Order: sequence, then structure tokens, then C-alpha cells
Amino acid sequence: MTPSSPKILFATSEAHPLIKTGGLADVSGALPAALHALGVDVKILLPGYPAVLQQGKHATPFAQLPNPFAPGTVEILETRLPETAVPVLIVRYDAFFNRKGGPYQQPGGKDWPDNALRFGLLSYVAAWLGSSGNPTAWQPDLIHCNDWQTGLAPAYLRFWPGRKPPSIMTIHNLAYQGVFGPESVKPLHLPAESFKIQGLEYYGNLSFLKAGVFYADRITTVSPTYARDIQQEALGFGMHGLLHERRSVLSGIINGIDTKEWDPQHDPHLPHRYSAKRLNNKVKNKAALQHELGLAVEAPTPLVAIISRITYQKGSDLVLGVMHDLIREGVQFALLGTGDAAIEQAFVNLARAHPGRIAVTIGYAEDLSHRMEAGADMFLMPSRYEPCGLNQMYSQRYGTPPVAHATGGLADTIVHATPTHIATGDATGFLFREMTHHACTDAVRRAVRLYRDAPLWQQLQSAGMQRDFSWQNSAEAYLKLYRSLAA
Ligand code: ADP
Ligand code: GLC
Repeated sequence: MTPSSPKILFATSEAHPLIKTGGLADVSGALPAALHALGVDVKILLPGYPAVLQQGKHATPFAQLPNPFAPGTVEILETRLPETAVPVLIVRYDAFFNRKGGPYQQPGGKDWPDNALRFGLLSYVAAWLGSSGNPTAWQPDLIHCNDWQTGLAPAYLRFWPGRKPPSIMTIHNLAYQGVFGPESVKPLHLPAESFKIQGLEYYGNLSFLKAGVFYADRITTVSPTYARDIQQEALGFGMHGLLHERRSVLSGIINGIDTKEWDPQHDPHLPHRYSAKRLNNKVKNKAALQHELGLAVEAPTPLVAIISRITYQKGSDLVLGVMHDLIREGVQFALLGTGDAAIEQAFVNLARAHPGRIAVTIGYAEDLSHRMEAGADMFLMPSRYEPCGLNQMYSQRYGTPPVAHATGGLADTIVHATPTHIATGDATGFLFREMTHHACTDAVRRAVRLYRDAPLWQQLQSAGMQRDFSWQNSAEAYLKLYRSLAA
């Protein structure tokens, strides 16, 4: 073990650009890349879903082990992330991972019935690679687990005989906990003694995330405020007690963003590239976006963008009412997202009732999301809770001040336009405290008022565009943590 540059196994269930359903993938692609750039010997561990096998078709054999939960052999293949060349270990067991559908859900949207075994295997392989059973020359000094899908790794490590590296459990979203019936404990080869409150038992069930939170040596979340939020009952999803108990090993490190992919000066998705010095080109993107989405092409009309999963977490229900009220005051809205079918339908209906004022795109569209960040005047993000959130950082970089609920990472990354922050020139957006329709519409109204004051608005835009959201700082914070643990 070399404490100066520990070898890190970064276990995750998705990583951009190989497989992505949400922000976890962005982090799992970018953080290892930033660590790699700092000279850290890091390998990502990822299930062999069809998209991963397809993009990693030149992967080479790395190791193999018997599947502890099912017949046959698990192959571990090694490839690299495109562009950044970060090593990726693929857990290949076709019966579990190489199937049509999503990483977690069947084509119809139901969870795969064998998710406990599938992600039990991912966790098991992570622990096995950390154990003395790993036959390869590459022996990790630390296992970094991410979200419930890898939450059993710290539990397996705890009960593994012999050499054991420390582990970190990073919570990207506490709402997803990987809860399965008590009958899954035995097939997952977890010792019966672990199934208790001081262990992985969670209200009578087995929780993968609780296992991680209980057995890991360190717990991190993706923003300092969220690390505090989850110790409170309101946002603790039943785990606040344990998290509070473990607060001396719990901390928050804010995510960075991919500043190459999200750069208005070089973004290939934009009809017109721009910078803080050339904001007139941003106005051209607005006209192009209004045209593309069938909105009235009006330069002075404030255009508010929303890009998110359509869920309770993201406050999508609140957005509906806010849109309805604010278009009467002459605001335009452009929404891109997918999720809850009933709310999706309500958005579509609202857009139909207000042609030229509200544009709704149901679906997932990376390229459109770039054009919306560039073309909109402001970005709305009324998340009920937000572990970190990425779009509020993208929008600051694109000169599109965010209006957001003051929670989790939103509170940590947006400088609210108070009179003081406006006077000092570092305000970058708007935060509202109460998660209510009233507070949210008021915040948008206030943003619209400042938008009409061109010099002031430009100051807000350029303060956001100049902020450093790169991964460098976060990667250094993780490295410091790795070193302190592996030492
Ligand atoms: P979460 O992971 O909770 O959904 P984040 O803000 O961390 O929230 O990350 C969401 C990521 O997914 C961002 O990169 C965002 O731009 C992207 N995204 C979400 N919905 C869509 C969509 N419908 N089309 C394109 N990108 C989307
Ligand atoms: C989760 C959270 C989001 C965070 C992302 C990456 O998806 O909901 O807030 O940015 O993970 O850490």
C-alpha cells in the first residue's frame, strides 16, 4: 500500500458515456477521469449491460471467479472509457446483465425481479477484488462504492477473512435504498448475524444502502448541505438516525461538472457559440430555440427552461402550477423531461392550451438540453431535495441564472441575489426557502424584474459564467480523503 497514491476501485452501476440514467453516471464518468488526471491509479467497476459490452467490445480478460449466487463463471473484462482512457472493469455475467431493457428496470418499467442478486453480484465482485482472493497484480487500497447498487460491498468486506481495504460509501440519492425482503439475506451469502439493526436490517427488510452506510469506513454525499439535510427526519428517508449517529465519518464533497462538454464557447450542439464577452450570441441562440420549439420568437420575453426527470423529487408538480400562473405575466417556458406519466400528460395538455408560450418535450435529449441551457434566460429547479444537482451548474456556465429551492447542492452552488451579493457582484441566481407555489412564483417574478435591468442581469450572468465548477477541486478533496483512509 502506498499512501501517497492509493489504488482505487470505483464501483458504480452506471458511468457516462457507457451507460447513463441520471447524474450518477455523470459523476462516475467524470470523477475517476479527474482522479486519473491527478495521477491516481483508479479503475471503474461496472456491470456488463448490452451498451457497455457493445462499446467495450475490444475489452481484454482481467480475471474470473465462480458466480457465488448462480451457476457458471463471472468474467471480469478490462477496457477504457472513450476519450479519458480511464480503465474500466466490466462484470460480465450475461444471464444477469446482458438483457434488453434498462439497468434497473424491464422494458415495461417494472424493476427486474432479480435486482438483489444482480447488484449483490456487483457488490460481491467489488469486495472480491479488494480481498486476498484477487489473483491479479492490481490490488486496490480502497473501495469507493456509489449508491445502493454497490452498498453490499462494505458488508461483504466486513465479513471477508484476511486482508481488507477500507471502503467509502457515497450517497448520490438517499431515496433509492435497494430494499429487498428478508429472504434475500441467505441467497446473497450474507451471514445471519448481519441481519439486525446494528447491521443491514432495515425495518424488517434488507437494505443495500443501509448496509453501505453501516459498514463503510467513511460516508460521503455529493454536497455539504445534503450531508446535513439527510440527518434530519424530513429528508432522511428513514435513515436519518443512523446517519446522525455516524456523523463523525459523514461529509459532503460537491460534484464538479464536465467543463469540456458544457462550454458555450465550444459547444457543437449550439447554433451560435458565445462567452461572457460575447453575450449577443446567446440572444441568437434564444431566437433559434424559440423557433425550434414553436415558441413565439420574441427577444424581450423572458424564457424559462426546465430540464429534469419528471418526479416528486424535482418538484415537477409544483412547476405545473407555476407555469400556469406565470405565462399570464408574459413569461415563456420550455420544458424537457420524462418520468411520472400523469404529470407528463398534464404538461402536454398545458402546452396545447398555450401554444407559443409553453413548449414541452417529453423524452431524453442530450443535444436539445444544451440548446435549452444556451437559449433560455433563466433555469428553474424547484427540487424538494437535491443531493447535488448538475443543471444549476450548467446553467450558470451558460449565462442562464438558476432559480432554485434552497436545498442540498442547490444551496451550495448558487449565490442568491441578495442586495449584498448584488452589490459585491458575486450573485449568480435565486434561491427560495419555502417549498411552496407562492415562494417559487415569487422567486421567478423577482428574477424577471432583474432580467429587465440589463446591466444588472449581465453582471449576474457573467458572475455565473466565471465560476469554477470543474472537477479538479472535488477530485482533490476525494484524493485527500482516500489518502487519509488508506494511510
Ligand atoms: P438526477 O441525477 O437526480 O436526475 P442531476 O441534476 O444530478 O439530477 O443530473 C441529471 C442529468 O441528467 C443532467 O446531466 C441533466 O442534464 C440530465 N437530464 C435529465 N433529464 C434529461 C432529459 N430529459 N434530457 C436530457 N438530459 C436530461
Ligand atoms: C443523484 C442526485 C443528484 C446528483 C447526482 C450525482 O442523481 O439526485 O442531485 O447530482 O446523483 O451525484
